[in-house]
Amino acid sequence: MRLAILLSGRGSNFQAIHEAVRNGTLDAEIVLVLSNRPDAPGIQRAREYGYDAQVVDHKTFASRAAHEEEVLRQLDAAQPDLIVLAGYMRLLSANFVTRWRNRILNIHPSLLPAFPGVDAQAQAVAHGVKVSGCTVHFVDEHLDAGPIIVQRTVPVLDDDTAETLAARILVEEHAAFVEALGRLARGYRVEGRRVMVPSRES
Ligand code: GRF
Repeated sequence: MRLAILLSGRGSNFQAIHEAVRNGTLDAEIVLVLSNRPDAPGIQRAREYGYDAQVVDHKTFASRAAHEEEVLRQLDAAQPDLIVLAGYMRLLSANFVTRWRNRILNIHPSLLPAFPGVDAQAQAVAHGVKVSGCTVHFVDEHLDAGPIIVQRTVPVLDDDTAETLAARILVEEHAAFVEALGRLARGYRVEGRRVMVPSRES
């Protein structure tokens, strides 16, 4: 399974996937790591690990469409099976999503469909929910809305802030991405909103 990883920042989810590939937990190959930000710590790390690490800086393109066209060109060249958005802070156009339908994964730090959008952990604390978590899902045309692959839960404690909850969720994010990719590696189909993978026995 060939993976392309798109990121914009810290890259801790990328790091978790890298470690799972390296230690054999995940039978996959990272064929491209791409950042829209030249200063993203995640892309520096990708270089250190020796990956094909590409910066496609959105600030150097005349339009959103032109930037995305270059990202799509890089993906066509790398030929991944799956594209992993690991903290990639750019919205994808309908054209992008259509070209890679049900092959783009995103992770969101809430139990979707609760708390889509920015500051999901702060939304969860403010709402007073007692359980939150993270969701790995396929990307469709809508924000944080595509078919769900894996969810993992964490408790929300009385003294949590957005920051302490985010830290608890992040640990589960790393496990959830690896779990989701491991499941998809066994083959999958998407029926409506439901992502189906063969059972382990079959
Ligand atoms: C994570 O909180 C993820 O849920 C969100 O962006 C953050 C990325 O973190 N989509 P990192 O760059 O993988 O450390």
